[in-house]
Amino acid sequence: MSDFDLSDFPFAGVGLEYHAPASWLAGYQGADPTIERIIDSRFEFLDYLEFQPSHTIYEPRLLCLSAQMPILLHSSSLSLGSVGIAMDSEFLNLTHRLLKQTQSPWLAEHISWTRFLGGDTQHFVLPTLTPAVAETIVANAHEIRRVTDIPLILENIPRTVALKLSGDLAEGEFISNVVERGKCGFLLDLDSAIITARMQGYDLTQYLRSLPLHRLVEIHSAHPARDWEILSPLLTSFPVKAVTLEWDQTAAASDISLRQMVRVIKAHCADKPLYWHGCAIEASNTTAAARADERIQLSRATSFNISEQSLIIHEHSQDLTLSFPLRFLMPLLHFAQPRTMASALLLPGMLNESEITENLVFLQSLLRAGVLLPSTAMPEREQSAERGKIWGHWSAAWDFYCATRTHIDTPYVSVADLDGKLAQKVIQSQRQPSAFKDYWVHPFYPLPNPLTPAPRADPHQGLLEILQDRVTCRCFQNAPINTEQLSALLYYTWGASSIEENDMGDYFVKKTAPSGGSLHCAEVYPVIMDVPGFAPGIYHYSVRRHGLELISREDPRSWISQACGDQAWIEHAAVVFVSTARLERMAWKYEFSRAWRIVQMDIGHLSQTFSLMATMLGLGCCTTGALRDELFEQKLGLDYRDEPIFLVNGAGLAATS
Ligand SMILES: Cc1cc2nc3c(=O)[nH]c(=O)nc-3n(C[C@H](O)[C@H](O)[C@H](O)COP(=O)(O)O)c2cc1C
Repeated sequence: MSDFDLSDFPFAGVGLEYHAPASWLAGYQGADPTIERIIDSRFEFLDYLEFQPSHTIYEPRLLCLSAQMPILLHSSSLSLGSVGIAMDSEFLNLTHRLLKQTQSPWLAEHISWTRFLGGDTQHFVLPTLTPAVAETIVANAHEIRRVTDIPLILENIPRTVALKLSGDLAEGEFISNVVERGKCGFLLDLDSAIITARMQGYDLTQYLRSLPLHRLVEIHSAHPARDWEILSPLLTSFPVKAVTLEWDQTAAASDISLRQMVRVIKAHCADKPLYWHGCAIEASNTTAAARADERIQLSRATSFNISEQSLIIHEHSQDLTLSFPLRFLMPLLHFAQPRTMASALLLPGMLNESEITENLVFLQSLLRAGVLLPSTAMPEREQSAERGKIWGHWSAAWDFYCATRTHIDTPYVSVADLDGKLAQKVIQSQRQPSAFKDYWVHPFYPLPNPLTPAPRADPHQGLLEILQDRVTCRCFQNAPINTEQLSALLYYTWGASSIEENDMGDYFVKKTAPSGGSLHCAEVYPVIMDVPGFAPGIYHYSVRRHGLELISREDPRSWISQACGDQAWIEHAAVVFVSTARLERMAWKYEFSRAWRIVQMDIGHLSQTFSLMATMLGLGCCTTGALRDELFEQKLGLDYRDEPIFLVNGAGLAATS
């Protein structure tokens, strides 16, 4: 940000400060009566409302108000003067968000500190005026300006406690120093100045003169009538852009005097146009026709199918399906990236005389339908090429995440509508993909009945103890587990607790873990190294039959470590369970990429159930995501487009170290 420049501070007028009542902040007791009053009366004679970011945490209706009246933001929680303690970055982020949301023309913060190592005073203090405190305030002021990119003004506090150290600057000098070096404006809190002068024995006029009044942007006053003799010359002699009244808003009776006071103050301010005029918060209009030079792109919720003759475009957020001749595919793909309308006209054939009208109609109809959007209508972060530290190395994940992120106005279909659509699919012979995967012709080995009491390691161990005891084991004995344990692990994690026939032509399966749409697309493949009664090899768990179907007798110990990212210790487990997902089960119902997230979560739920079961059985267990997918696909014989690999869980006897 540039240096301090008074012209960066527009004229804001006369406003009111919202004060959340202390009693209300201390313990929520229903709606805050103060804000009720503000919402009711609107105080239309005021130019703005000022509030603190922290109050929006308690009173979210402040944010609703910000859509209706101009807002100035005034922070009290960044503790600029805390030497050796970084500002709370989460709070700074919140402040930054609110600044953008409210369009506040500047931010105010106090010249003080509240945070110390181990606590918070909950009250502004500035007991010493040492160079170290000044340096800290200046550095933090620069940081706030850097993060928010809007002007900052610093406010004096009531100094009731002052320890006079030898290196201390005089107070006026200290405040001027930090305001100037911080490249900030000054906010004079008149009541605080009066209290400070009284408590510290200063002459009030001298004290005021020592403050950086040439940068006086805002004044806070709780008693403007009482202090009028001081206030009025400040208004006329200095570049004041805002006067904020600290008024008791709970008492409706005092509205008339508030209104009169505002009128008097305004009469003293030069007659300037208010910043807020023309600054109304704009409703976004994503379907506006694009200018020829405006960059537009396909909405994130668009997908398309190609049939022999037609291009079928689906805009999922509006549940819209459009059909066009196939020749429009090229202009459609052109807008996968943000591009101008003019650039589309340069595509081969677009300006052919016989087709130009149709081509333009095609593009305009996509714009009108919201299939093409001005790229400025895309959420800000998604437009940003700067992905920040985290996403910088995760570019594919970023694309997926952004493409599947939902927005405040994302429409969701009702359960009834969705069921109706599924019923239609069934009528059109697209019946529900089978809830079961079966290897009917492979050798089948039934597992022991899992409903006999599970072989618990410790009958006194309850759920809470099991939760506490679960831990990753990476050191297994080369020892077997028995078939009862294998049966219990499979059944209580991946097995069916119940199976219900449905009218979609298939079944709904219930398991101990929840599943998106109850579609349970997970499958599991036990890779057995050491379970008496079972030859080492790869098996598939049949949910329908509660047994194992043999896929291969190749000894897994020859390849399992390599498949698990060269983690050699995994060979000593008795079994590893490879989790995959039959995507068609989910894709049949959810025709959008976000469903992929649900699949991953389903796999995660099952994995935790597995770990708890293994712990209850007294077995060591592990989870590993470091896998060579392709090697597993080959060994299991899977096509990753139908059934990708997700995760491996291992079980065996833990070695005592
Ligand atoms: C999705 C997922 C993938 C994991 N992948 C591995 C892995 O590849 N190798 C490994 O040694 N541990 C892996 N872990 C285990 C974590 O390292 C382990 O849970 C973590 O260190 C916490 O220890 P605890 O499980 O004993 O509480 C994974 C855990 C999860 C949930």
